[in-house]
Amino acid sequence: MGIDAAAQKQLAARAALAFVKEGMTLGIGTGSTVDAFIEVLAEAPRAARHVASSERSAARLAERGFDCVGLNDTDGLDLYVDGADEYTERFTLLKGGGGAHVREKVLAAAARSFVVIADASKKVDVLGAFPVAVEVLPLARSAVARKLAALGARPDLRTGFTTDEGNLILDCAGFAITDAAELERDICALPGVVDCGICALRPADVILAAGPDGEVIKLVR
Ligand code: A5P
Repeated sequence: MGIDAAAQKQLAARAALAFVKEGMTLGIGTGSTVDAFIEVLAEAPRAARHVASSERSAARLAERGFDCVGLNDTDGLDLYVDGADEYTERFTLLKGGGGAHVREKVLAAAARSFVVIADASKKVDVLGAFPVAVEVLPLARSAVARKLAALGARPDLRTGFTTDEGNLILDCAGFAITDAAELERDICALPGVVDCGICALRPADVILAAGPDGEVIKLVR
């Protein structure tokens, strides 16, 4: 039977502590696995600056004595640690289950190293069992939904949810993701789309995946 997903997330989160170096500029993602990382972050050497990918993570960090700065106050991130909704062994990801993927992808793109922490259930051969989260400007919601349907998706407005940027999310099931980078480009090219949850153009550099047996597998690109 082995350990449950929550315990796996804790193991993956703890494994990421080895990547934190004193004085670095550290980006922090969003989600339950990152929450576990924030819980143990005090055990790592102290970063000089922390940049959060969401108001939620910034609040959790502040509660534990880690003040955050904005990305504009840095010259980029040395390390960005985040979770994922799906990952492949080609280091492509699906993100956005927590609706924070726009800022997450900005931080990942600004990072010299992008480390993903996950439980083994997130591993897939092909992305897309989890819906692709597409953040849209509110005024473009319907127009973008029609374009996404034309691309093969079944867009569904995430009800009662507004992103940290004040936008809406269309959760899109049904995409056939044969070429993740191409679909990421196609979705992001639609006027009114801010970004989507496919992370193929900026894949992970390292994936730390914990399994039910308690082993943490380290994949390096
Ligand atoms: C947040 O928008 C997402 O990209 C998260 O990183 C992703 O949903 C992983 O979440 P969990 O760590 O809670 O599984």
